[in-house]
Amino acid sequence: MTAFTINGRPVDVDAAPDTSLLWVIREHLKLTGTRFGCGIAQCGACTVHVDGEPARSCVTWLEDVAGREVTTIEGLSPDASHPLQKAWIAEQVPQCGYCQSGQIMQAAALLRRNAHPTRDQIVEHMDGNICRCGTYLRIISAIQRAAREA
Ligand code: FES
Ligand code: FES
Repeated sequence: MTAFTINGRPVDVDAAPDTSLLWVIREHLKLTGTRFGCGIAQCGACTVHVDGEPARSCVTWLEDVAGREVTTIEGLSPDASHPLQKAWIAEQVPQCGYCQSGQIMQAAALLRRNAHPTRDQIVEHMDGNICRCGTYLRIISAIQRAAREA
């Protein structure tokens, strides 16, 4: 059993220590907002926070999060009222939506560290999160909006 906290809730997960955190989140804890994209740390669809820092859950192992705090898109705010979630709706960012929870979690880590990033800082920080629908410009606009309106 591995004990950690997810979205503020303590959990004990009965799985092998080298089980990917993404699998644990989706299959054991049934939190399906975090997505499986590539499985090899190349797309960012599986991004969550571990102790407040962005982490690719597909290549984070269960044993790595023992005693730590994991936050998924479901735990970013209690009622989808995080400034990024509101900005995402206002800017109508998603197309198919598949990559978007990872995009938002990656962006949330930036705004926590830097409440008013420049456009270049946003582009650099979001660089590794792939969107096959090409919503990149709207992602940038939404992050800028969230920084303005937070
Ligand atoms: S599924 Fe983890 S980075 Fe692509
Ligand atoms: S919205 Fe479709 S992959 Fe990003």
